[in-house]
Amino acid sequence: MKNLPKISIIGAGNVGATTAMMITEAELANIALFDVAKAMAKAKSIDMSHALAAKSLNIKIEPIDDYKGISGSSIVVVTAGFPRKPGMSRDDLLKANADIIKSVSKEIKKYAPGAIVIIVTNPLDVMAYLSYKITGFNHSRVLGMAGVLDSARLTDFIAARLNVKRSDIESTVLGSHGELMVPVYSQTMLNNKPLTDILQQKDLDELSALTKNAGAQIVSLLGTGSAYYGPAASVFEMVKAILLDNKTTHCACSYLQGEYGLRDVYIGVPCVLGKKGIERVVELKLTKPESDVLAKSAESIKAMIRKLEIN
Ligand code: APR
Repeated sequence: MKNLPKISIIGAGNVGATTAMMITEAELANIALFDVAKAMAKAKSIDMSHALAAKSLNIKIEPIDDYKGISGSSIVVVTAGFPRKPGMSRDDLLKANADIIKSVSKEIKKYAPGAIVIIVTNPLDVMAYLSYKITGFNHSRVLGMAGVLDSARLTDFIAARLNVKRSDIESTVLGSHGELMVPVYSQTMLNNKPLTDILQQKDLDELSALTKNAGAQIVSLLGTGSAYYGPAASVFEMVKAILLDNKTTHCACSYLQGEYGLRDVYIGVPCVLGKKGIERVVELKLTKPESDVLAKSAESIKAMIRKLEIN
């Protein structure tokens, strides 16, 4: 097997397993897969190993029975938790998933103290904060996924609306992964031209509504479970930037210490990702309405954090 970094994925459900497949297919890292449903993690690992063999790839994906198995991981991706059911908001998941994130974070602290932690479990801004507090890791090593996903969804809607290539679009979506996300159109570019110069406000509002509703639409169409190809691809892009030390900018959920006028909260902002995790937060110039929504977004995340009585 190839001598590659090790990534542990906690939660071998839809997002976790799809992430494992994407990472191994790209030969980025060997994977250790953990789930409370141990037989399921084992079954999926065996099946994915067969897929890798079919593609003649010498990458290892192994199920682990306990948390000792995560030791030596460069990155731990946490997708353990309950997904949304139709009609449920991400916030409804708060208490149930907080208990899971607390216990998983204690294990990461114990067995993978040098790892970078990427939180995917929703409501992820709150879960990232919780994991940061429980692990005690430097905030640069604890981050959340969703800005990449929200930006990708916006890119897809813009490409469809304007009939242009996705690769010509650079979307920027800040804020919480939920109702209060903040698409920043002055910093969303089509061939380096801001979207505010291309579309009317009414069109931009429509794109925002589509992006905000994208996750719920998938939940309602699926009937059981929530989106996973988009989330997994977003984690993959973050993992790639970190492992390859790309120092590229991605919207991700980061701890803020005064950036954007916000403090002691995890929220989606543009971040430079590299081998240290979040190398730096990029501060964009926002319009007053944009920074107002960002502040409101931060307030709603803080309200949920207070409900958990972490501090
Ligand atoms: N430790 C490890 N795994 C756990 C634990 C735990 N304490 N609790 C639950 N799990 C596992 C479940 O057994 C399940 O296999 O987490 C997995 C979650 O997988 P799915 O139910 O398929 O959910 P998924 O669609 O992958 O979403 C996971 O990511 O996008 C978010 O909102 C989503 O919070 C959800 C998470």
